[in-house]
Amino acid sequence: MCGIFGYTGEPTDAARMVFRGLKRLEYRGYDSWGVAVGDDGVVRRARDVGKLAAAPDGLPRAGLALGHTRWATTGAVTIENAHPHVGCGERLTLVHNGIVENYTALREGLLARGHIFHSETDSEVAIHLLEEELEASDPGAYGTPVGADLAEALRRVSLQLHGLNALAALDARSGELAAVKNGSPLIIGLGEGASYLASDMASLLAHTRRLVYVRDNQVVSLRPDGVDVFEVETGAPVALDIEDVHWSAEEAELDGYHHFLEKEIWEQAGLLRRIAAEGGAQAAELARFLSEACALHFVACGTAYHAALVGRYLLALEAGRPAVVTHAHEFGPFAGLVEPGDAVVAFSQSGETIDVLDAVRAGRARGARLAALVNVPGSTLTREVGLPLMLGAGPEKSVLSTKTFTAKIAYLLLAASALAGEPRRHVHALEAAAADIEAMRSDGRLDLIRDVAHRIVDRNDLFVLGRGLGYPLALEAALKIKEVSYIHAEGLPAGELKHGTIALIEPGTPVIVFTPAGADETSLLASAGEVKARGAYVIGVGPRGHDVFDAHLPVTAKGIAYLLAASPVVQRLAYELALLRGCDPDKPRNLAKSVTVR
Ligand code: AGP
Repeated sequence: MCGIFGYTGEPTDAARMVFRGLKRLEYRGYDSWGVAVGDDGVVRRARDVGKLAAAPDGLPRAGLALGHTRWATTGAVTIENAHPHVGCGERLTLVHNGIVENYTALREGLLARGHIFHSETDSEVAIHLLEEELEASDPGAYGTPVGADLAEALRRVSLQLHGLNALAALDARSGELAAVKNGSPLIIGLGEGASYLASDMASLLAHTRRLVYVRDNQVVSLRPDGVDVFEVETGAPVALDIEDVHWSAEEAELDGYHHFLEKEIWEQAGLLRRIAAEGGAQAAELARFLSEACALHFVACGTAYHAALVGRYLLALEAGRPAVVTHAHEFGPFAGLVEPGDAVVAFSQSGETIDVLDAVRAGRARGARLAALVNVPGSTLTREVGLPLMLGAGPEKSVLSTKTFTAKIAYLLLAASALAGEPRRHVHALEAAAADIEAMRSDGRLDLIRDVAHRIVDRNDLFVLGRGLGYPLALEAALKIKEVSYIHAEGLPAGELKHGTIALIEPGTPVIVFTPAGADETSLLASAGEVKARGAYVIGVGPRGHDVFDAHLPVTAKGIAYLLAASPVVQRLAYELALLRGCDPDKPRNLAKSVTVR
C-alpha cells in the first residue's frame, strides 16, 4: 500500500518534483519515504522515516528520478528499510509496492552468490536480482527480450517473484526508467517531453491528463518522448490504451481547508445535490442489473462494507429484495454458494482493495454477474466487472472515507426505489440531507459538536447505538472515531446492548445514540436510559432533544433523509476529537487509503 512516483524528462529539480508527487500519494503509506535521481551514471538518494515534511535538499538537478512513500510490511520503520533501494552497485535503484512472498528463498540464493544486503525488506531482493539480470548475457530462459535493457531485466525479475507487486527501477547509466505491474496499481502519465509513473492517477494530474493504466503482468519502458508496454510472460509489445481523465488537479488539493477530512465532509452536500440531479440513470442501470439477478451477494471492506449493509436494509425495506452482505476477506467460504445468474456487487472507494478484487474474481469463477459501486476511475475493479457504477465523488484524499460512503448510500437509495418502481421517490431526501449538511456550517451545531468533543476527549472507550438502518450507521460512526482519534469505539445494534456490552458501561462512558424520528425512537430512548442508569454520558443524534441525553446533536432531516444527514454530524465529531487529541485527520497511524495486500 505504498506510493510510487517517477519521472523521466528534461533535467530539472526532479527530486523536488517527485517529492511533490509523493506528497499527493502520502495517504497510501507514511512510515518512511525516499527519492533517488540518476546523476552521471550514479544513483543519489535522500531518505527519511515518518511523513513527508520537507523536500530533500542536496540532490542534483536531473532528468531521471524515482520516489517512494512506504507502508511497512516486511522490515521495521527505519532509514535502511526505506525505499528506493540500491543493490551492490551504484548504477541502479528500485522501489516496490506489494509483498514478495518468496523473498526468503531468493535472499538466501543471492547471499550465496555474494550479494550484500542493506535492509530487512522483502523488496531488496528485487534490486539484487535486477543487477544480475542486467548483467546476464543469455536472456533465452524468459521468452522474447523486449527492446529496452532495463525493462527487459525487470521483466525477468518479475517472473521470479511470487505475490502481488509493482516495481519501478531507474538505471543511472543508461538513463532508463522502467516499471512492472502484477497486482498493485501503476499508472503512466504522458507529458510534453516527459513521462511519469505513479500509484494513482490524482498525483499525475498536476503534470498531465493523458494516462495509461498499466494492466497486470505488463512491463513498461519510459522515455521522455514516450513509453512502450510489453507483456511480461512473452515480451510481446502491447498497444497503448491512452485515456484522458476529467478530474482536475485542484479537486485533489485542500482548497483552503485545513485537512482533506474537513473538506470532504463538507463536499457531501454538493455531491448529494449532484446525485439527486444526475444520478437517476446510473441508479436505474443498477436497479435493472439487480432485478435481472437471482441471489444478491454484496462484498466490501471497512466503510464500504457498512454502506453495503445499508444497501441490504434499503433493498429489503424499499423493494422486498434480500441481499447477503459479506466482508470481502471472509467471502471465500461462501463463494461456493454463488450460482450462475446470481449477482456479486462490490463496493470500493479505491477499486484496488485486494480482498474485494479476490471476491469479485471468485464470483466470476462461479458464473455470477458482476457490478461495483466504485469511486476511482480506471481502477482495477472498474475493469473486473460488467457494470462499474462510478460514484463521481472526486478524489477522496483523507484515509477516512466519508463522501464516498454517502454517495454509495445515495445510489443504493435511488436504485432501491427504482427497483420498487418509484425511481424518483427519494430524490427529495437527497436534497433535504444536502440542505441539512450545508446548514451545519452556520446553525450552531459545530459549537455543539466541539463541546461534546471537549467533554469526551479523554475517554478511551465509546459506544454507538443504532437500530434498523441506524445499525450500519452506528458501525460506521464507531469506525470513524476509532480510525482518527484512536478512542476504542464500538458500534452495535441497540438491541444487542443487554446481551453483554452493557457490562462495559461505567460512569462517564460516552454513548452515541442515533435516534431518528419513527418506530424505533421509543426503544432507542429506552436503550439510552439503560446506559444512562449506569452513568453513561449519552449523546443523542436526532431531530428532537430528550431528558435522557447529556448532549443533543440535532439532525433536522426527517425520514430516509436522516440516513444521509446523520453520518456527517458524527464524522465532524471524529474530526474535532482528532484535532483535540493531536491526531492527523488525514493520515491516521498504521492506516493507508487502499489495502492492496492480503
Ligand atoms: C475507511 O475510512 C477506511 N479507510 C477503510 O475502512 C476503507 O473503507 C476500506 O479499506 C475499504 O477501502 P475501499 O473502499 O477503497 O475498498
